[in-house]
Amino acid sequence: MDRVNKILQHPTYKACLRQIRMLEAERIFCGHDMAHFLDVARLAYIFNLEEDRGVAKECIYGAALLHDIGRHIQYLEGIPHQEAGLPIAEEILKECGFTEKEREDMLEAIARHRDASVKEEATLAGLIYRADKASRGCFGCQAEKECNWSDEKKNLRITY
Ligand SMILES: [Fe+2]
Ligand SMILES: [Fe+2]
Repeated sequence: MDRVNKILQHPTYKACLRQIRMLEAERIFCGHDMAHFLDVARLAYIFNLEEDRGVAKECIYGAALLHDIGRHIQYLEGIPHQEAGLPIAEEILKECGFTEKEREDMLEAIARHRDASVKEEATLAGLIYRADKASRGCFGCQAEKECNWSDEKKNLRITY
């Protein structure tokens, strides 16, 4: 997991996380913080094992750690974060030693983590999409009533 741990130490990664934390200080809905990234990583890894998908652990964790990395740009400039985060993730993944093929799969997962059409796919993108949605604890959320997620998307029961 050396390359994953390198992401955590990357100065750009740390700077983005700091900005997201500041911009979400008053947010009542789900945050985009380390707890969320790790929930996504671990759920995606559980799905990977349960479904025997054979996706590399470092790629799952890397994509999960970076999938919301453009969130501050969305707040500041209105660019959807799954797009805004791509160049940032590309730079970090390259500098942390991920190969071109690995980066391609991970960037696809980041770009499509809000695209329901990947839901059924047996790919990293499919794992990350489902893990991201499954990660939210709507059943225990104070802001559940005000949240714009559809009832169908909300996790009103524990499944993982
Ligand atoms: Fe997201
Ligand atoms: Fe997310």
